[in-house]
Amino acid sequence: MRTILIASPKGGCGKTTVATNLAAFYAAAGKETALIDCDRQGSSLHWAEKRSVLAHPVLGMAAKPGSKVAAKVPSGTKRCIVDTAAGIRVSEVAELLKPPMPWSFR
Ligand SMILES: Nc1ncnc2c1ncn2[C@@H]1O[C@H](COP(=O)(O)OP(=O)(O)OP(=O)(O)O)[C@@H](O)[C@H]1O
Ligand SMILES: [Mg+2]
Repeated sequence: MRTILIASPKGGCGKTTVATNLAAFYAAAGKETALIDCDRQGSSLHWAEKRSVLAHPVLGMAAKPGSKVAAKVPSGTKRCIVDTAAGIRVSEVAELLKPPMPWSFR
C-alpha cells in the first residue's frame, strides 16, 4: 500500500483539493483507495461520502492525529491518501509519518 500525506501549515492552500483529486484519480484507475481525514473540519470525509454512490468509490475515514487510533484501513487497500488540518507543526508531521502509521494497522 502506498500512502501519500498532504500537509501544509497554511490554511486554504488546497490540501483537501489535492487529496480528493488524488483519491479520485487512483479510484478511477481501479485501485482500492482510502482517504483519511485528519482535519476535524471533515471536508474530505464529506466529499467521500457524497461520492460513495459512484462506480469507483473512495473509502473515507476519520482520524485524530496523535490519538493513534481512529482509522483502520482494510486489507486490500492499494492507496491511502491522508488529508491534514491547517496549522500542522513539523513535530506533528513527524508523528504522522512515524511507523507504524495509525492508519496502516490491519
Ligand atoms: N489550484 C487551485 N487553484 C485555484 N483554487 C484552488 C486551487 N486549489 C484549491 N483551490 C480552492 O481554494 C479553496 C481552498 O481549497 P482547499 O479546501 O482544498 O484548501 P485546504 O488547504 O484544504 O483548506 P483548509 O486549510 O481549510 O483545510 C477552495 O475553494 C478550492 O476550490
Ligand atoms: Mg482542507
